[in-house]
Amino acid sequence: MDIRKVGIIGAGHMGAGIAHVCALAGHEVLLKDTSLQISERALATINGHLAKQVRKGRISEAERSAALEKIHAVDDYEPFATCDLVIEAVTESEEVKRQVFAELCPHLPPATLIGTNTSSISITRLAAATDRPEKFMGIHFMNPAPLMELVELIRGIATADETFHTVRAFVIGLGKTPAVAEDFPAFIVNRILLPMINEAIYALYEGVGTVEAIDTAMKLGAHHPMGPLELADFIGLDTCLNLMQVLYEGLADSKYRPCPLLVKYVEAGWLGRKTRRGFYDYHGDEPVPTR
Ligand code: NAI
Repeated sequence: MDIRKVGIIGAGHMGAGIAHVCALAGHEVLLKDTSLQISERALATINGHLAKQVRKGRISEAERSAALEKIHAVDDYEPFATCDLVIEAVTESEEVKRQVFAELCPHLPPATLIGTNTSSISITRLAAATDRPEKFMGIHFMNPAPLMELVELIRGIATADETFHTVRAFVIGLGKTPAVAEDFPAFIVNRILLPMINEAIYALYEGVGTVEAIDTAMKLGAHHPMGPLELADFIGLDTCLNLMQVLYEGLADSKYRPCPLLVKYVEAGWLGRKTRRGFYDYHGDEPVPTR
């Protein structure tokens, strides 16, 4: 099976990025959120990101306008009947995702595949909320989707080989490199990355080093492009805490215990860059460590 037309549900950060990548690769894209205004705002954001790629010489002006023309904001599920693949990228809530599948599935022909961009919810459980578990799998894009090379592919217990091979070929066609993960909590990247970030927060909490010392140590001593605390602020401390809780509960191992300092920051509403305060303060021109 060949994927030509892609439906994307959720026009937030990830949905917009995935639409951008799919359209640049030549796919027709339908983009749906809870209102047409949100999808139209996402189109404007995508256009801004495409224009930046043109300025940097990565794509041509003709590629920018061709990609933009391929993305259509829609307000209901009826047009999704023409899609070969639908990728769900709505808010990370099992209840919201289940509701989306319940509304979507009656509109899809039997051959249409469904992917989810979830970071932490069981693929097998989400598949069971659809009418086609054998045509369902995890297609986990990294943030920001247009820049990151990797896509994690996760099969649920019922995912058919044909679904997997079709999606794998589609992802390679987007210019991405797939890595196959089993359906365990947080898959591969977050399973390894988040405990590292959590450990950096423990090091801060226990006074092993300051924010600046910990980030400098990991940048210059381990050649990480960003320090772990800087990265935590970028990801969002609420998202970091949520992922640690998924690991802690899903694997029932105390080594994944979220650091109390992370919990405290989230309770204070200091969520990182998006609230302009986390392990750094972002109100000025340069980020200033808060500890
Ligand atoms: P976001 O909050 O930017 O976007 C979510 C969008 O879903 C919002 O625009 C919201 O209006 C929409 N939405 C909510 N309920 C809906 C419904 N019933 N129908 C249609 N649209 C609905 O969130 P983000 O960051 O884009 O995350 C989306 C998914 O991608 C989540 O599952 C998340 O775990 C996953 N993800 C996030 C990454 C990140 O770094 N932000 C990285 C990789 C995956």
